[in-house]
Amino acid sequence: MASIGWVLLLFLAQLHTLLSTSIAHRADGGNLTHLPVSFLCHPNQAKALLQLKKSFSFSRSTTRLSSWRNGTDCCLWEGVGCDPSSGHVTILDLNNRRLSTHGLDPALFSLISLQRLDLSMNDINGDNIRSAGFERFTFLTHLNLSNSGLYGQIPPSISKLVNLLSLDLSTYNTDYYSGGFYGSNSYDYYNNLWESSFDTFVANLSNLRELYLDSVDLSNSGEEWGTSLAAYVPQLQVLSLADCHLSGPIHKAFSRLHSLVVINLQETSIYASAGPFPEFFMDFPNLTVLQLSGINLEGRLPSRPFQSKNLRVLDLSYNMNLSGHVPNFSNASSLETLRLDRTNFVYAIPTPSSNFTSLKELGLNRNLISMDFLSAFGRLESLHQLDLDCFLDNELDHDLDSGSDLGPIFSWIGQHKNLTSLGLFGCNFSGAVGNLTGLQTLEMHDCNTYGSMPSSIGNLTNLRNLYISSRFSGPMPAAIGELTNLRNLYIEGARFSGPMPAAIGELTNLRNLYMNNPGFSGPMPAAIGELTNLRNLYIEGADFSGPMPAAIGELTNLRNMYLQHSGFSGSMPAPIGNLTNLEAMEISGRQISGLIPNAIGQLNKLRWLVLQDCNFSGSIPSSIVNLTQLTMLDLSFNSLNGTKMNTSNQINTSVMLG
Ligand SMILES: *[C@@H]1O[C@H](CO)[C@@H](O)[C@H](O)[C@H]1NC(C)=O
Ligand SMILES: *[C@@H]1O[C@H](CO)[C@@H](O)[C@H](O)[C@H]1NC(C)=O
Ligand SMILES: *[C@@H]1O[C@H](CO)[C@@H](O)[C@H](O)[C@H]1NC(C)=O
Ligand SMILES: *[C@@H]1O[C@H](CO)[C@@H](O)[C@H](O)[C@H]1NC(C)=O
Ligand SMILES: *[C@@H]1O[C@H](CO)[C@@H](O)[C@H](O)[C@H]1NC(C)=O
Ligand SMILES: *[C@@H]1O[C@H](CO)[C@@H](O)[C@H](O)[C@H]1NC(C)=O
Ligand SMILES: *[C@@H]1O[C@H](CO)[C@@H](O)[C@H](O)[C@H]1NC(C)=O
Ligand SMILES: *[C@@H]1O[C@H](CO)[C@@H](O)[C@H](O)[C@H]1NC(C)=O
Ligand SMILES: *[C@@H]1O[C@H](CO)[C@@H](O)[C@H](O)[C@H]1NC(C)=O
Ligand SMILES: *[C@@H]1O[C@H](CO)[C@@H](O)[C@H](O)[C@H]1NC(C)=O
Ligand SMILES: *[C@@H]1O[C@H](CO)[C@@H](O)[C@H](O)[C@H]1NC(C)=O
Ligand SMILES: *[C@@H]1O[C@H](CO)[C@@H](O)[C@H](O)[C@H]1NC(C)=O
Repeated sequence: MASIGWVLLLFLAQLHTLLSTSIAHRADGGNLTHLPVSFLCHPNQAKALLQLKKSFSFSRSTTRLSSWRNGTDCCLWEGVGCDPSSGHVTILDLNNRRLSTHGLDPALFSLISLQRLDLSMNDINGDNIRSAGFERFTFLTHLNLSNSGLYGQIPPSISKLVNLLSLDLSTYNTDYYSGGFYGSNSYDYYNNLWESSFDTFVANLSNLRELYLDSVDLSNSGEEWGTSLAAYVPQLQVLSLADCHLSGPIHKAFSRLHSLVVINLQETSIYASAGPFPEFFMDFPNLTVLQLSGINLEGRLPSRPFQSKNLRVLDLSYNMNLSGHVPNFSNASSLETLRLDRTNFVYAIPTPSSNFTSLKELGLNRNLISMDFLSAFGRLESLHQLDLDCFLDNELDHDLDSGSDLGPIFSWIGQHKNLTSLGLFGCNFSGAVGNLTGLQTLEMHDCNTYGSMPSSIGNLTNLRNLYISSRFSGPMPAAIGELTNLRNLYIEGARFSGPMPAAIGELTNLRNLYMNNPGFSGPMPAAIGELTNLRNLYIEGADFSGPMPAAIGELTNLRNMYLQHSGFSGSMPAPIGNLTNLEAMEISGRQISGLIPNAIGQLNKLRWLVLQDCNFSGSIPSSIVNLTQLTMLDLSFNSLNGTKMNTSNQINTSVMLG
């Protein structure tokens, strides 16, 4: 619908230009550029947009906004839409252009006819945002500033936008498997916002239908958030407050928000206690998504959520004090996601008549695994993600007994090619992994009693994501090299013994290699240089010995390199100067010594250079002045002499030396 409207607008704008230019043609006898008057766009609007363009840096952007040229009709510019009768700019949509700027240029706020403003997924990195003049946008109905690098308190002027229908200030984890890298794209664009008076913030937003504030810190806003929403925003349809650090039980007043379609209150860290499950949720006639993970719900869940005809997503996971019976499903359920992992649910009496014909994602706790879950949940033909939580007693208990017998589940998965993602949490299993050949994603967390990693892992040739945060003993099998479709390899706390297998070099499709406490001793194999598609390399707390292999210089697609206390000794290899796509480099470790190679000055895309707490000596290479994109340079805690350097062309750089 939205895109049809957009096309129509563009069409009208084009028609208008066509008509006015044909008139202009007659008047001027040939030169159209003399007659900007005939454009739909107002000159003052074009001027404001050009000023805005000037404030952007395009060093990492996906566009250069080349259509934004003086003397052309701004209503036809990329991301701009105008009112076809007045010619005022009503839409500015620069979603995901990866532009960077230091705060919002005041010129933006002269576009007072804007109805839709979307600057999400750009890096608006500035502290003038708090005083920004959003209140001037009195016609604004849609504002999207998600993942745009905002920080501080939510600009108070946003709370004056009484016509807003949709507001999105959230942070999405856009790329789970590359998150956490310094300077990586998604990391840069995180908002880091807070609000201590939620009540004042929503008081005048009475027209809101959609409110997304995921990751905005509301922890100092008290327990009244539910009452405030009910009092001021009664027509709300989408409420997404994931990871807002809310507190207090879900208030009775919340029952007035009966138009809600989506409720997302999930927390990945701590929520004191949301109290008992609010049964009034089930009186909201249009509710389809209910995500209440990790909010410390207590007591017993009534059976109504399972009887709902509308609910597509029911996520109650990580509520360890929530119990209940999963009832028999006599009718096909509309559920697509059902998560009961890390809860205290039990199944009533399983019958093979249950049918979940739509279920795509299922999370089960130990009680539900240990019975015959397949007969209880029916044929599960459409399932593609299964997460098994084998923890006993709802504690993160590392002293596991033999655990549930996953053999039957594994042989079911082996035949069930629609299942592409399996997560194992605290599960003890032996063998049979080699049967899971359809999997694209395999996660093994805290499966600590497993023993060594079987070489049959090499059978899983469809794997794209392998996440191991379980302690394996013994070496990593060379069969890992068979997983040639792997894009993401995460190893955390595995403590493999012996060297890193050279077969890793066969994973030529790898984009992200993350190793935190992987174990591994001995030199890093030179075969690492064969991972030519690697974008992010992260090594922390490894026991490698010997120098950083020169072959690292062959990873020419690398964007981020992070080597923290990895065991490497000796000097940094000069071929590192070949990594010309590198945007962030962070290295520490006292055994790293010698000169910082002059070749470092070739890495002209570097924005972040941290060589902290190494043992570098000599002088800082003069070539560093060529790193004009730097925003962070930290060479502290080394044995460098001559810390004088010319940073005059790096006004926005934080420099730490000494
Ligand atoms: C149109 O105007 C431009 C800018 O003034 C000028 O450079 C160009 O020669 C003109 N073209 C014609 C066809 O008159
Ligand atoms: C656009 O062009 C006009 C006429 O050439 C000029 O007066 C004006 O300053 C220009 N505006 C910008 C923002 O460059
Ligand atoms: C805001 O933008 C983000 C990223 O571009 C997008 O995922 C999200 O759906 C948008 N929010 C709304 C409410 O449209
Ligand atoms: C809400 O609107 C009223 C009336 O316009 C105004 O007095 C009040 O200051 C506004 N509150 C906030 C928080 O902007
Ligand atoms: C539920 O959705 C229907 C259809 O969109 C709508 O007519 C109705 O008003 C909604 N109910 C509530 C309580 O918002
Ligand atoms: C469940 O699905 C099976 C196979 O599709 C079908 O034969 C059976 O009738 C369904 N049962 C119910 C209760 O809908
Ligand atoms: C996989 O899913 C498709 C459609 O969702 C279904 O037709 C097919 O039977 C399923 N395959 C298996 C092995 O369950
Ligand atoms: C692996 O799957 C096959 C069927 O595909 C089955 O016969 C075999 O028993 C399974 N192996 C194990 C160890 O589960
Ligand atoms: C799985 O791997 C093991 C060991 O590498 C091998 O012996 C076995 O034949 C493989 N099974 C399948 C089904 O490919
Ligand atoms: C990599 O760097 C080394 C030393 O700095 C240089 O000799 C070599 O030619 C470079 N290789 C490529 C492919 O650029
Ligand atoms: C800095 O260190 C280098 C190498 O150790 C040495 O040659 C140079 O003389 C030193 N410079 C100063 C100013 O101490
Ligand atoms: C900076 O780069 C230019 C162009 O590549 C080069 O000529 C110059 O020597 C470099 N400066 C230093 C101090 O390395």
